Amino acid sequence: MTDTLPDTTELSLADQARLGSGADFWTTKRVGDVPAVLMTDGPHGIRKQEESSDQLSLSGRSVPSTCFPPAVALSQTWDAASAFRVGEALGRECQALDIQVLLGPGVNIKRDPRGGRNFEYFSEDPFVAGVLGEGWVRGLQSMGVGASLKHFAVNNQEWDRMRVSADVDARALREIYLRPFERIVTNAQPWTVMCSYNRISGILASQNEWLLTDVLRGDWGFDGIVMSDWGAVADRVAAVTAGLDLQMPGDDGTSDARVVAALESGDIEESAVRRNAGRLERFARRARAERRPGTVWSADDHHAIAREVAGRAIVLLRDDQGLLPLQPSGAIAVIGEFAVKPRYQGGGSSHVTPTRVDIPLDEIRALAADASVTFAAGFSADADADRAALRAAAVAEAAASDVSVVFLGLFENQEAEGADRPGIDLPEDQLALLEAVLAAQPRTVVVLSHGGVVRLAPIAAGPAAIVDGALLGQAAGGALADVLFGVVNPSGRLTETVPERIQDVPAFTSFPGERMHVRYGEGIFVGYRWYDTREIDVTFPFGHGLSYTSFDYESVSVVADGDDYVAQVTVRNTGERRGREVVQVYASLDGSVVARAPRWLVGFGDVELESGERADVSVPIPRDELAFWSEELHRRVVEPGTYAFHAAASSRDIRRTVEVEVDAEPIRYRLTAESSLGEIMRDPIAGAAFADLFAAMFAQFSAGSEEDVDYTPILDSSPFGRFLGSLGGAVPPGMVDDVLSRANTANGFEG
Ligand code: BGC
Repeated sequence: MTDTLPDTTELSLADQARLGSGADFWTTKRVGDVPAVLMTDGPHGIRKQEESSDQLSLSGRSVPSTCFPPAVALSQTWDAASAFRVGEALGRECQALDIQVLLGPGVNIKRDPRGGRNFEYFSEDPFVAGVLGEGWVRGLQSMGVGASLKHFAVNNQEWDRMRVSADVDARALREIYLRPFERIVTNAQPWTVMCSYNRISGILASQNEWLLTDVLRGDWGFDGIVMSDWGAVADRVAAVTAGLDLQMPGDDGTSDARVVAALESGDIEESAVRRNAGRLERFARRARAERRPGTVWSADDHHAIAREVAGRAIVLLRDDQGLLPLQPSGAIAVIGEFAVKPRYQGGGSSHVTPTRVDIPLDEIRALAADASVTFAAGFSADADADRAALRAAAVAEAAASDVSVVFLGLFENQEAEGADRPGIDLPEDQLALLEAVLAAQPRTVVVLSHGGVVRLAPIAAGPAAIVDGALLGQAAGGALADVLFGVVNPSGRLTETVPERIQDVPAFTSFPGERMHVRYGEGIFVGYRWYDTREIDVTFPFGHGLSYTSFDYESVSVVADGDDYVAQVTVRNTGERRGREVVQVYASLDGSVVARAPRWLVGFGDVELESGERADVSVPIPRDELAFWSEELHRRVVEPGTYAFHAAASSRDIRRTVEVEVDAEPIRYRLTAESSLGEIMRDPIAGAAFADLFAAMFAQFSAGSEEDVDYTPILDSSPFGRFLGSLGGAVPPGMVDDVLSRANTANGFEG
């Protein structure tokens, strides 16, 4: 934020307290000359309610706005520039509606495919989620509209979302769950962060000083305001103390009065109230200064952006017989209710009223004017529908066609904010329909619409082709038709693994928890990190996606770029068509000092190539992506070693690998009497000081072993101090303290 704005406020303490809660559902209070700020949901459109207000879209229509691809699809572009364009367009719409803050993006990690709001989130991988979320925030804020990064933090399920404690270890927190937030805060400075409803290791996010102050502001340098999720504040006084600036929505003044009472009783520091009010004032003045009255936007232009980005997001999962792209001629049977009633967004607070909706069947007809296109619903959301009759009619159309296109997926009531899914199966009648259609027409393409991952094992090998649309926003129909007929060559990639069975997923045994606790027992092994470590077969791996052309990765090299690295990947389009290739770079480290996945994503880039064309793709690899979080050292640590960098087309499709020596300071921990003999020996100062003693001890142990047992491991891990004690005075008094103090000083610890 600009430094010229005041940091402290002239208001009375009571008025400062009033600033800290909303005026109503969507606005902050105007207090003195501090202006009010209007915010609305997001994130893939604008949900400006004019008649009544609620947080789950219960009261129906909001003002029409472009429904861009929700995060589930936006992430599948693997393209921060697309995210920027969407953010920018949303910013334009906000300015036109005089909205100062759009409540998004949601960057929580998709810990489990059953998570009810997964369609609002980007990925199972923190790097993809961070890069795409950062693009969106930059785009929105470039228009003078503030983002609200949510839901901070570890809000990975809907069940018991307002109470559950996410019990997660420090490494997984920092490397996985907080990581997208960290990237976006440090690189893009969102105006606001929204705390989540849940508890983190027992403490409500809204009252969590460690999270809201120590980590967010202390470690990452956040300088905006923290607001609560709607209704997340249980104790306003505790929240203010912890660093929560704004309670949303407002109440009848009760919580402001509680803050004033706490000031009087000394239960809250005056400085905390002043600090929060100063931030709120700065935020409100900035929001006011950035207004751009008279901004206009074109629904046609924004729809065109929505269609283009949706086209980039579509993932071609399978195309076995080269059936795609379809010929725009002959007889095409379009089957499935979603072809006329498209699924393109999820339910709940992110649900928007679109400016228009492309109907897939119409768009197919528009692109295949010379074909005879028939339609049969095949199934229905209506429980009273005659399933057998619907299926029979669809099979008849399929049999009479040259090719059929079957739209399958989840219904909107199967995925919405507030409810996790019980499983990941597609509805049974849809599976039965597909089986019957395939028997009548092997030349069949399946088009999928769904916000959460669906199990594809039962159908993966059946149809000739599978096109995955996830949820593509209001232009879904046009974008899908573009891909089906080759107007767009698909280039999207999965940002979530498609497992073979729900029993394989990392959190299977703990999701969604019990008695207000969910234990993240899988630690850092989320998504592909889990499947790849355990070598579990998956239906489609993370990063997977095909094209109508093919690409050869001819070489990879990785060179230093200042403190960071950059991979140069030479890619050639070996097929017949122009296409875009997303190049992924994963790192591996054998013999790491901590448990690591066999490979993890550290960078990606893309390139558009004509048939036969070749180019070098530069993929930046931030050094920090090699790090692990050391709980003991309380920081990210890059360990020295030989890292392998893989240029890959998915986490399981590695095309080229190169090894690079990474220099880094050896990791040193503070030495104490509880340090192990091995740790002492490997320290240059302490190891040298006790070298003779250790050599004698090891020799004595080896000699004493009649069974020829190797005692090195137990000696290596024995606590030094306790071991010395048993040697009875082998070391002069004071020497241990002296040596450890010298070693610690040399290693950068206070003596
Ligand atoms: C959701 C938020 C949303 C807020 C306001 C809450 O229920 O969790 O994502 O921004 O409502 O509608």
